[in-house]
Amino acid sequence: MSLAGDLLELAVATAREAGRMLVDKRPVDGPDVVQTKSSPTDVVTQMDRAAEQLIIERIRAVRPDDAFLGEEGGTRPGGSGVRWVVDPIDGTVNYLYDLPDWAVSIAAEAGGAVVAGAVEMPRRGESFSAVRGGGAVLHTASGARELRVNSHVPLDRALVSTGFGYSAGRRARQAQVLTGVLPGVRDIRRGGSCCVDLCSLAAGRVDAYYERGVQAWDIAAGALIVQEAGGRVEGLHGTPASPELTVAAGPGTFEALHDLLAPLDPLGD
Ligand code: IPD
Ligand code: CA
Repeated sequence: MSLAGDLLELAVATAREAGRMLVDKRPVDGPDVVQTKSSPTDVVTQMDRAAEQLIIERIRAVRPDDAFLGEEGGTRPGGSGVRWVVDPIDGTVNYLYDLPDWAVSIAAEAGGAVVAGAVEMPRRGESFSAVRGGGAVLHTASGARELRVNSHVPLDRALVSTGFGYSAGRRARQAQVLTGVLPGVRDIRRGGSCCVDLCSLAAGRVDAYYERGVQAWDIAAGALIVQEAGGRVEGLHGTPASPELTVAAGPGTFEALHDLLAPLDPLGD
């Protein structure tokens, strides 16, 4: 098998195990918040940490020389040219409240580019994955299906998902941008997990996604899944997607959303 195929297999198996652990070991009265980050509502639970530790242990047991970038501090260098980009729970607030839309996101980069990605949603029984050049797939108990984004959806018919940051200042600005977007689209969805939003786009469950402030671990796997499902994931004016801004949609819809967003100054806080 190719390197990317091997990395995908490991990403999928590890995300599945971490997802199962997160369901099985979630305390019935909710996980403990052990840390806050950018604001008092930007929380880390003991389960985020436990899942990241499990993921790193499992991958290191097979590939001891790989580097890691993990949301919960599991960042370490490596000498193999492969780096794992890990979000142990994307949608931590949903997990805290026992809402089902959260996921384990694991991406593998080789030579600086994401080549494999797995997004595991255990509460939905859905496993999304993609390998660069090999398409994107959704596996469920009833089988597997190739993913394809919706394309050329006119913006006023497009269902657009987005998210908001954790700081009050950032949110006030995001709310202003939203007032410019909402009248121009079918409707808005705020699901609470960036990688779930991206997989929903890949599966044709929404038509577009944009958000300011998402980090590499939030988007790495989901962006590959969207691209392999035929979508575009970029910033403004041809720049790469970044924490500044991520815009994602199928061809035709992407351009229209981009042109709606650009004059709204979505990069301001
Ligand atoms: C968050 C989720 C959310 C998005 C935030 C992210 P976390 O990640 O992806 O949908 O709006 O910007 O920080 O904190 O749950 O890992
Ligand atoms: Ca995240």
